[in-house]
Order: sequence, then structure tokens, then C-alpha cells
Amino acid sequence: MKIAIFNIHNWEREYIQSANNGRHTLKMFETYLSSDTVDLAKGCDAICIFTEDNASAPILDRLHELGVRYVALRSAGFNNIDVPHAQKLGIRMARVPEYSPYAIAEFTVGVMLALNRKLVRTHYRIMEMNFSLNGLVGFDMNGKIVGIIGTGKIGRVVAKILHGFGCKLLAYDIVEDPDLIEKYGITYTDLDALCKQSDIITLHSPLIAETHHLINEDRISGMKKGVMLINAGRGGLVNTQDVINGLKSGQIGYFGMDVYEEEKGLYFEDHSEDILQDDSMARLMTLRNVLISSHQAFLTDTALQNIARITFENLDCFEKGEVCSNEIK
Ligand code: NAI
Repeated sequence: MKIAIFNIHNWEREYIQSANNGRHTLKMFETYLSSDTVDLAKGCDAICIFTEDNASAPILDRLHELGVRYVALRSAGFNNIDVPHAQKLGIRMARVPEYSPYAIAEFTVGVMLALNRKLVRTHYRIMEMNFSLNGLVGFDMNGKIVGIIGTGKIGRVVAKILHGFGCKLLAYDIVEDPDLIEKYGITYTDLDALCKQSDIITLHSPLIAETHHLINEDRISGMKKGVMLINAGRGGLVNTQDVINGLKSGQIGYFGMDVYEEEKGLYFEDHSEDILQDDSMARLMTLRNVLISSHQAFLTDTALQNIARITFENLDCFEKGEVCSNEIK
């Protein structure tokens, strides 16, 4: 097949080439899929896209006119594709539902520890020859109450790691996992109770209409003063302005932010020569108790190998006309 790969990044090229192993003809584009770039897929049977590409109805219409029949997402989430419209056009779609929950869970816990023990701050101080310990007091994780919102593949691994730390675990999910109750003594509760009781809250539910701005002014005001909030889920799970207000008032004591509501056009790119136009990001960058990372929780060697391998397995299934277990229905 001829495949147009949009939004390709340097850190994934070698994994893509290696997983393809010369089977398909690849046309790689650094640009996003959009109405301006869709014609780059001319002559291709399939396109391969990432989280920021726009596969809305008009773009799918144009792809269909160009002869594209398959869309392979190099991600688990598929909120950027108009699924019913693609189905109407007969375009088959597949995603990578699981590539390494460990990558994201381990990163999440790493952010908790870095914020708690102020690792970034101490590193920069030492670079200035300041070896003072003032302002660096952390807390023991052992015995702390951690609220996990979403106990799916990633939330479950977070629970396993934190259980090892001796944390007490609360959870909120629309589906309870009896295995987690039995193995890690996790207690399922409602969202407001979780917010009220937790010392640390970590977000691992998908971004859907019901979870949009799940963390907002009301919920923040019900949290313990000085709570730690970690978002390695999706930016839209939190109302960013409400979180900034919570940080300014001290209601939120720490914020770990791997994902952001306004990632598009900012994340995954080098803007070191630009003037920052995003005032919320600018404010967050001034706060010492905020740790910002650029949607990189997934970025491990294992995860990238799995993403590339599964993407091409999906495309191979489509080419052979076979059933694809990762098809988006
Ligand atoms: P999953 O589908 O295995 O788990 C999601 C859990 O959320 C499920 O247990 C589900 O029942 C629960 N859920 C669904 N609707 C809910 C609601 N309304 N309220 C509360 N819980 C609800 O997904 P997985 O693999 O654990 O991923 C979770 C999220 O992590 C993804 O949706 C994605 O947004 C994010 N993610 C972030 C990455 C990063 O690099 N920062 C990388 C990969 C995923």
C-alpha cells in the first residue's frame, strides 16, 4: 500500500521505518493533516495520523475523493476523527489501544515524586552553587491518600506502584475493578468524596463529554488545602483557569501537567524563538510548584516500538481485507 504519514516526528521515524520493514511505500510529512494539507495524500490508499491531526468530516470527504480508504491512528485516543462520518464513507479506521500503560503510569509517579521532593528546583539551585535546603521539605508518600480517577489500563498500574509505596488508594470510575479492591485494597467512591479526602489526585480517565472539566472550581474548593493534582490524561479534564486560581490561592499545592487544554500549535514543537502568546501557559510557567512536561508520558522506547508495530499490523489487516481487532467501530 501507499501510506501518507502525517505529523511525523523525529523521535518516531526510526520506529516507523523499522516496523514497516519496506513492506509499504511511505510518504512522510511533518505537517498536520488539515484542509490545507489533505491533498498530500493524493495517490495513497491509507493515511496514518497522530493526536493533533484533524480528521473532521470535510477532510474525510476530501480523503475519500482522493481514494484513501484507511486511517491508521498512532494513538489510543481518537477524538480527532469523525468516526460516524468515516463509517458512512466506508473508510476503515484503527488505533493503538494499548502500547505501554507502564510508560504513562511510571511517568505519573515520577512527576509526583519530582514535585513532592522539589527535584527540579534543587537541581537549578545547585547549578547556581546554592546547596541550601531551605524550601525543599517534602512529605513521605507512605500513608498518603491518593485518589485515582479512571482505573483502566494506566490507572491500574498507577495503583500497583503506589500500593508498593504504602499509599492508601481511593478511586473513581464508572466501572469498578474487583481485582484492584482485592489486590491493592483500593476503595471506590464518588468523585466529590475522592476530591475531599485525597492528598494527591491523579487523572486517568478519557476525555469525553462527561469528563470535560471534571476538575473545576467547585471540585477544587472541596479538595484538601495544598492537594497535589497530576494530569497525564488529557488537558480538557481540567479547567485550566480554575486550576491557576487554585494554585494562586494555595488551595492546590502542586500541579503536574503533562497535557494541556491548548496543546495544538504549541506542543511537540520548538518555539524557543517565538513570543509566547498563551497567557495561561505563561502564568503556569511562573509557578514553582507546577511541573510542566510536553505530553511525553508515553515516550519510552517500548511504547514507540509497540505503537509502530501495531500501526502496521492494523494496516496489514486492512490491506488483506481481514478483521482488525483494533478497528474503531
Ligand atoms: P482505559 O480505557 O483503559 O481506561 C480508562 C478508564 O476510564 C476506564 O476504566 C473507564 O471505565 C474510565 N472512565 C470512562 N468514562 C469515565 C467517566 N465518565 N468517569 C470516570 N472514569 C471513566 O484507558 P487508558 O489506556 O488507561 O488511558 C486513559 C487515558 O490516558 C486515555 O484516555 C488518554 O487520554 C490518556 N493517555 C495519556 C497519555 C500521555 O502521554 N499523557 C498517553 C496515553 C493515554
